[in-house]
Amino acid sequence: MSSIIGLFKRNYTAFFSPPKVLKSTSEQGSQIAPLKFGILGAAAIAPAALINPAQSHSDVVVYAIAARDPKRAEAFAEKYGIEKWYGNYQALLDDPEIDAVYNPLPNGLHYEWTMKALAAGKHVLLEKPSGDTAEETRRMFDLAENKGLILLEAFHYRFHPAIQRVKDIINSGELGKIKHISASLAIPKGIITGNDIRLDYNLGGGAMMDCGCYPLSCLRYLTSANPISVNDAKATVYRRNTLIDTGMAVNLTFPSASPSSSPPESQPEEPVTATLVADFATPWILGVLPRMPRIFVLAECEQGSVEMFNFVMPVIYHYIQIRPLQGKARTEKVYSFRTATHKGTSEDQNEKKGEEWWSTYRYQLEAFVDKVRGREPQTWVSREDSIANMEWIEKIYEKTNLGARPQSNFQLESSE
Ligand SMILES: *[C@@H]1O[C@H](CO)[C@@H](O)[C@H](O)[C@H]1NC(C)=O
Repeated sequence: MSSIIGLFKRNYTAFFSPPKVLKSTSEQGSQIAPLKFGILGAAAIAPAALINPAQSHSDVVVYAIAARDPKRAEAFAEKYGIEKWYGNYQALLDDPEIDAVYNPLPNGLHYEWTMKALAAGKHVLLEKPSGDTAEETRRMFDLAENKGLILLEAFHYRFHPAIQRVKDIINSGELGKIKHISASLAIPKGIITGNDIRLDYNLGGGAMMDCGCYPLSCLRYLTSANPISVNDAKATVYRRNTLIDTGMAVNLTFPSASPSSSPPESQPEEPVTATLVADFATPWILGVLPRMPRIFVLAECEQGSVEMFNFVMPVIYHYIQIRPLQGKARTEKVYSFRTATHKGTSEDQNEKKGEEWWSTYRYQLEAFVDKVRGREPQTWVSREDSIANMEWIEKIYEKTNLGARPQSNFQLESSE
């Protein structure tokens, strides 16, 4: 019962009522004004991904919103208490007050507007997948580096202590080397329908792009490697546009895993086999009941397995099940770094910031601000990581006959 109450309390605090903190303005006598964010597009994800987490961050103010429809921008600004609104994206980028831009535009517009934001001197928090192609991703990071700006692909799940705990379990060697690993993000049919941008090829749509980027990222994270090959990739295509996958099932090979504790060359090096499932149109049970979303990662190792349910939105609910071949199975739930202390190097983990009700996005925002402020973030998604994820998304699409998503033909003017 208490865990049910905990579930509601955690979610209510995370999504509806995060504690509002004073911003680090002169009212606190601080020298530095909080970072001012501008949002490109009145996106449905913006409240969960940024607006809500910003309320409990003393160094962040969501200051402006831009939408192509000025009325929509104004209504959005009013609803969320945002000071400024703009009827076009460039006007927001031209606002010198803005320090950082959140880009949740459709995938096919990530490149153009991230390049323009960087050219305007803004740090960018960029929704995943970072672009349509790895080349786009490479160019965005090149520009960010040239300009000395922070660019982060918003793989928010990485910043949460639960998935980091799974990685620690694997790296500890407690279960031996990984033999097979599978990850899935499948959501029921009906959430993404009709005119959804995720079904638009020209905007970089597709299940592998929107859902599949997560399990791919997670497989790469937990194996600490990139795949060696895509052995097979089967797309379920959208009947109204056969270049769009509404589902993807992939068979990959990763290099042999070697957790630090197992003696090197104890056994012949077997590659790790992996499966990935992405789906945003899982049929309902008998056509009437939505299935539970299948959001999990499962690592089967030499000495047992570890599975995490809901690695994407762990604050809502998750569990980590550890099933050693010898000994008792156990379940862990990790909502903050403090709750992970009984296993880890407690001193270090006590210092890590976070509360039980922090969502993945809240942890991510903390890291983003730390990075912008020149502090060491708790963890990070690197340039190489983002480029590699995009490369393997492309390779998976190429293995089907759909091909990679179309690369943007936007070119930044040389004067910028
Ligand atoms: C994945 O591909 C490998 C290599 O082609 C094959 O041996 C294996 O059976 C495949 N696994 C699945 C689950 O399809």
